[in-house]
Amino acid sequence: MYYSDELIEEIRMRNDIVDVISSYVKLQKKGNSYFGLCPFHNEKSPSFSVTPAKQMYYCFGCGEGGNVYTFLMKYENFTFVEAVKELARKAGISLPEQEMTGEQKKAADVRTRIMEINKLTAKYFYHQLRSEKGRRAYEYLKGRNLEDATIVKFGLGYSNQTSADLYQYLKKQRFGDDIIKESGLITYSEKGTYDKFRNRVMFPIMDVNNRVIGFGGRVMGEGEPKYLNSPETKVFDKSRNLYGLNNARLSKRKYILVCEGYMDVIALQQAGFTNAAASLGTAFTSQHASLMKRYTDEVICTFDSDGAGVKAALRAIPILRQAGLSVKVLNMKPYKDPDEFIKAVGCEAFEERIQQAENGFMFEIEKCKAEYDMNDPDSKTKFQQEVGRKLLVFEDEVQRNNYLDAVSREFMIPSEQLQRLVAAAAITENGAIKRERGEIKSIAGRRKPQESGLQKSQKLLLTWLCENPELYKKISKFISKEDFIDEPYSAIASDVFAQIEQFGECNPAQIMNRFTQMEEQTEAAAIFHTRLQGGEELESRDFAKALEDTVRNVKLHALEEKEKQEKDLKKVQEIWKLKKEWKTKKLQF
Ligand code: GTP
Ligand code: MN
Repeated sequence: MYYSDELIEEIRMRNDIVDVISSYVKLQKKGNSYFGLCPFHNEKSPSFSVTPAKQMYYCFGCGEGGNVYTFLMKYENFTFVEAVKELARKAGISLPEQEMTGEQKKAADVRTRIMEINKLTAKYFYHQLRSEKGRRAYEYLKGRNLEDATIVKFGLGYSNQTSADLYQYLKKQRFGDDIIKESGLITYSEKGTYDKFRNRVMFPIMDVNNRVIGFGGRVMGEGEPKYLNSPETKVFDKSRNLYGLNNARLSKRKYILVCEGYMDVIALQQAGFTNAAASLGTAFTSQHASLMKRYTDEVICTFDSDGAGVKAALRAIPILRQAGLSVKVLNMKPYKDPDEFIKAVGCEAFEERIQQAENGFMFEIEKCKAEYDMNDPDSKTKFQQEVGRKLLVFEDEVQRNNYLDAVSREFMIPSEQLQRLVAAAAITENGAIKRERGEIKSIAGRRKPQESGLQKSQKLLLTWLCENPELYKKISKFISKEDFIDEPYSAIASDVFAQIEQFGECNPAQIMNRFTQMEEQTEAAAIFHTRLQGGEELESRDFAKALEDTVRNVKLHALEEKEKQEKDLKKVQEIWKLKKEWKTKKLQF
């Protein structure tokens, strides 16, 4: 579907960003902006800002930002077109229903196309399962106690043994190789193209809005690898999706059961525990936790009962707690996983285990205790000191004291003694935190490619222009849009200058419409939210100085780039002269 720029802009203008975002995030007014806890990373104090004047959001913590469209794309995992549809619906604007022309089809969002391929592929696998070729797969699933209704509910399917079955099917549906490649379903190699999934039972992976974003395939019986998963694609981010959450989020039960595998989710949901979801063998991430926090306040870990499962739980518990979720751990012994448990003793027994699930923190302490020898006084002391340190994760004093009481009772550590251990740990920990902060800083510095001062100057100038369009008069005698050399600053500067000249002000959210890919939007959003080091508001005299330096930097950078391009020596000499002037020039604003 193709929509005109005017229509896209009208829909955007009719959806105030504060209204839209406040239905997802609790916002509080502070100055000219609203602030709240960022839904895209875990944080305790709000650095997520929504600015009505700019009609944009930006997180000073993690750098996510954009306009209303970006927000829905990110939060709901919508494609651009889906975000347009949703906001049009909210604003009561009816969209033209028209067939796509070939040209428009090509232009359609890559994400939309990948999801189309995924949906067709899921249907294709589904039909294969019901064909003669899929008979063994169907029997395999039945042999694993799945009812027909369950097979339908999860859209399970079968991928044929032949090497390029799906590929030929997709070609017949008129998909080009470029987009098929992006879907990750086909392997392209020098020897040719062949289906990634062959002779496996197929599990389509859906996002919370029931769109197929990837697949898992299991060998029937023994074989390596047991499960094969789609690679990450533009629509499939493993660290941001949980299998089964599309159903789990609608469940009446108020907690979510997290487990490890496809079959666990399916078996649990079939047994009536429709609140089960799985991280699919990948390490549990803070994004997974934030995602669940949207739908629940409590999570029960039902990982496998083996060593790997315990390890997975110990890793997940702090992440879940950090996201503000209360965590419990279910004991599955003597069975390996929820699937086997239900098969062996049924859903009532499982319900009982849910009632008996252990508090996540107590589980951590118990596992920790197992590493020490309680008969040895030194070892026992070390254990108790460790408990003191662990209790520090609770920043809230009331909560910490309640845990202290519980631990003291359960592990027979006298309460006053434990209090002293916590206080002692807090002192050493404080030093450690400071050290750690220093480290975090240097790691962050290393990971992010150092932003050049010149890029920063271009960004700053654009942020300032957008926040105070009256600056334009002052600086336009020194600088023009051609002085913004690097992309995307150059494209954005050209829009900003044109808008200010025409309307006397700048509309950053409209400029954002240019960018339909999320990565571009995030980068562009930062351009409208750049702060000087320190970030505080400047006194007017200091601001004038900062403005002068920034204008000079941008100009000098532009001159240097021009010099690199110029071949005529005479002109190069002119540039040298200009550069010399600019280095010392006093700018009167
Ligand atoms: P069943 O044997 O079918 O009951 O699977 P399971 O869920 O009990 O398997 P297991 O506990 O071994 O693995 C849990 C999850 O990890 C699976 O559902 C997969 O998502 C993932 N997984 C398991 N084996 C593999 C593998 O070989 N490769 C990949 N990529 N993922 C795997
Ligand atoms: Mn299993």
